[in-house]
Amino acid sequence: MSEIVLRSLQIDDAEIFALHANNSAIADNMTNQFPFPYTKAHALEFIRRLNGFKPAQVFAIDLDGEAIGAIGLHPQTDIFLKNAELGYWLAEKYWGKGFVSIAIKKIVEYGFSSFEIDRIFARPFGSNKASQRVLEKTGFVLEARLEKIIYKNNRYEDELIYAIRRK
Ligand SMILES: CC(C)(COP(=O)(O)OP(=O)(O)OC[C@H]1O[C@@H](n2cnc3c(N)ncnc32)[C@H](O)[C@@H]1OP(=O)(O)O)[C@@H](O)C(=O)NCCC(=O)NCCS
Repeated sequence: MSEIVLRSLQIDDAEIFALHANNSAIADNMTNQFPFPYTKAHALEFIRRLNGFKPAQVFAIDLDGEAIGAIGLHPQTDIFLKNAELGYWLAEKYWGKGFVSIAIKKIVEYGFSSFEIDRIFARPFGSNKASQRVLEKTGFVLEARLEKIIYKNNRYEDELIYAIRRK
């Protein structure tokens, strides 16, 4: 059976990566830093910018050699230096197969062994039930709900803060 692996994104991934990313059903659940439409030029810029980080912060979610999504950890700075933010998306045709749950488990293990952090957090929108479920399935705990602080696509959204702590 095919397995999900996390690996670095390569310039050669840009075309298929952009095809998967170019989807309003994904962009609607992300910050506005995730563009829609999503072009190959956006993918190339993303891959070039993020491949400079050591240790790596962003990985392709790879299925049989194809980059079908991305997952990343963003270590925070200043007084928040013991925290890292988790972000992820997956090509819509692969939703509901448990792939992102597997990817999160892998990156949490990687994060706590590669960075001097004590806490990994994610901030799904209140309406993003799939993302909330994935976080709950992978051991994240709901720490806060900030009501209607997000404004996207002409409507207000709650922000939920989920986190997992170093054991
Ligand atoms: C959120 C996302 C990453 C989930 O990836 P995935 O690989 O489909 O996740 P999984 O298959 O591991 O788990 C999805 C879970 O959500 C559940 N789910 C899906 N839609 C749901 C809904 N509307 N209400 C409640 N639960 C829902 C599924 O049933 C499944 O739970 P289960 O295993 O208990 O049945 C994917 O949908 C995605 O890329 N969405 C757009 C981008 C995004 O939201 N990124 C995260 C921003 S915080």
